Amino acid sequence: MAVAVSQRAFVQDAAGLSARCVPAAEHDLVVGGLIKQFGEATILDGVGLSVPRGQSVALIGSNGAGKSTMLRCCLRLIEPDAGEVSLLGEDIRALGATGLRRLRRRIGFVFQKHNLVPRASALTNVLHGAIARSRSPRLWHQVMASRQAREEAMACLEQVGLADFAERRADRLSGGQSQRIAIARTLMQRPDIVMADEPAASLDPVAAEEVMALLYSLMRKQGLTLIYTSHNLRHAIDYADRVVGLRGGRIAFDQATDGQDSASLEAVYG
Ligand SMILES: Nc1ncnc2c1ncn2[C@@H]1O[C@H](COP(=O)(O)OP(=O)(O)OP(=O)(O)O)[C@@H](O)[C@H]1O
Ligand SMILES: [Mg+2]
Repeated sequence: MAVAVSQRAFVQDAAGLSARCVPAAEHDLVVGGLIKQFGEATILDGVGLSVPRGQSVALIGSNGAGKSTMLRCCLRLIEPDAGEVSLLGEDIRALGATGLRRLRRRIGFVFQKHNLVPRASALTNVLHGAIARSRSPRLWHQVMASRQAREEAMACLEQVGLADFAERRADRLSGGQSQRIAIARTLMQRPDIVMADEPAASLDPVAAEEVMALLYSLMRKQGLTLIYTSHNLRHAIDYADRVVGLRGGRIAFDQATDGQDSASLEAVYG
């Protein structure tokens, strides 16, 4: 299990950019010179970023700035054109299909759309999180699952405050409840890092706040690294130790959230 390190384990140079100041082994993610082009368009133009274990990082930037592309490149869900990505100490570009699969199991990914199985219960959906680490078909449905797996899934539901909804079909849950179930499913995966791409974007303001607070507190409790994208600058400040802004394919700023206000972050939107 990850051990939390200082929230301020990174340093910044005069330009405000983070420098690689501690050995890469203590970082869950080290990205260097990352380049990604789609056709003629250069989306990521030499992006560098190091994230120490236990840190919460908000990635912000305009629509199309490349935030989702960057997260996907870090998992090689999109193949980078150039650059280095070290994830949990592994050079992802050197990994074969099996190594990549093994590594991805350790990364929880929370999307804007929760992608629950609509006709399955909340409990069954949470059990599916364990499929990442065990291929047992018994995890497909709560009726077939072992008692131990069911108990773990219930504990994950308790952590997101939805134990009472275990039997409720996913398509009968609200958006906020569904995203909580998706978070419980991620916990069931027992990840080392959680990457979340606009996890609260489709929720009403109250549910969005609850989901962000929940995600943040769970990550903190377990000492996990959290990297999330958001267009809500308040969320970027409140639930991250550090905010990184992408603009024009590059990192426009990279600063601790302490003392930041929304206005100071708006610059990244040009
Ligand atoms: N598979 C693809 N093929 C071609 N272009 C793509 C592909 N995926 C993304 N793009 C383009 O890359 C750019 C960056 O997209 P990306 O989704 O990473 O932006 P984003 O910062 O996540 O934006 P948003 O805030 O809207 O989610 C966009 O111009 C997009 O159209
Ligand atoms: Mg996106």
